[in-house]
Amino acid sequence: MAPLTVAGTVRVPGDKSISHRSLILACLAEGESRVAGILDSEDVRSTAAALRSLGGDVPELSREMRIRGSGLRGLRPPTRALDCGNSGTTTRLLAGVVAGHPFSARFEGDSSLSRRPMKRVAEPLTYMGAKFDFARGDGLPMTVHGVDLRSIDWDTKSASAQVKSAILLAGLVSQVEVRVTESSRSRDHTERMLRAMGGDVESDRNQVRLRPARRLTPLDLAVPADPSSAAFFVALAALAAEGELELDDVCLNPTRIGFLNAIKRMGGDIRVNERASEGGEEIGTLTVRPAPLSNLRITAVEVPSLIDELPLLACVAAAAGVELEITGAAELRVKESDRISAVVQNLRAVGAVAEELPDGLRVHPGERNFAGEVNPRGDHRIAMAFGVLSAVSGNRIKIRDPECVAVSYPQFWDDLRRVAA
Ligand code: S3P
Repeated sequence: MAPLTVAGTVRVPGDKSISHRSLILACLAEGESRVAGILDSEDVRSTAAALRSLGGDVPELSREMRIRGSGLRGLRPPTRALDCGNSGTTTRLLAGVVAGHPFSARFEGDSSLSRRPMKRVAEPLTYMGAKFDFARGDGLPMTVHGVDLRSIDWDTKSASAQVKSAILLAGLVSQVEVRVTESSRSRDHTERMLRAMGGDVESDRNQVRLRPARRLTPLDLAVPADPSSAAFFVALAALAAEGELELDDVCLNPTRIGFLNAIKRMGGDIRVNERASEGGEEIGTLTVRPAPLSNLRITAVEVPSLIDELPLLACVAAAAGVELEITGAAELRVKESDRISAVVQNLRAVGAVAEELPDGLRVHPGERNFAGEVNPRGDHRIAMAFGVLSAVSGNRIKIRDPECVAVSYPQFWDDLRRVAA
């Protein structure tokens, strides 16, 4: 098998978290927002379609979008259920928006999303005065009945940007003060974007407070490249035998760079050329070269900063033949799939040595020529993580349902083929 060589530059698509938020906040602003370089993927399309059902003036997704907002409470009762597809962010953030509007909306999703827990947003929003109806358990379908909400001071006991954002959006729409305290700091794109639009948001370590605002000014934003998508190419270059990859325009928000820090700690050769912050978000170019990697341990405090990259980190450890232990990451069990089980089962299916922990996993050094079939269980990030492993180990891994990457990165396989030889 020829050793993997990497070469070239990749500008991965726009950040998914920022893309969702730009559509939602643009609809709540007064006047016309400009959003350049939004991610055009299934998840973001779900947010756009749901906002349209709520009367939002959202055109087709395109590189240069103009979105006319209708003000903080300008959305209208939907005439049909909001189809959130596979997207937890769409569901949870829009639950907060609907909770503060004087109408009800039914939320639906695909079979994966319908299994994901919604109590985490229903609880605080119910405390604020909204009502939730669930057809079964606390999954979708659910109906949110919005009202004039009251103020809240909520301790999430965990770190979830979706929960934090749902509460911030509910407070924003209802024009009441809200405070959220988390166990550790989750991604803060909502806070940054609100500030850029004139919102009154204060953050102090793991706590955020929003004070009522009368209006949001329109957004003028160029969406930076998604660090969670860039991570696949960082991993590929780190694991290659030769070459160098450059990753342009990557969002380097400190709440999102846990994967870069982890690879650096393992001995990875990553040069970061940070540029001025744009639209409230730091960005930069990464240059990554192959390097021998060493053992790694990840514990709870670090988890929020690389939650979506943990499946990839497990594949990196397997490919590098090193020991990895991840704990404090029980959240992985309620993502698009049970990512602890999906990663461990699939690593074993291709010949790696891995074990499940209740709140994480272990990968042990072992076989480094992987072969077999991977079942990503419809989960985009599992498919791409094993896509990297298959490129490194000489393509003897077959990935079932590779199209599921369309949720966050439709061009992933083309980009992978272009830079890996
Ligand atoms: C996201 C927050 C994270 C992350 C998800 C996107 C967001 O989820 O895993 O992919 O855009 O707010 P949690 O809020 O559940 O941590």
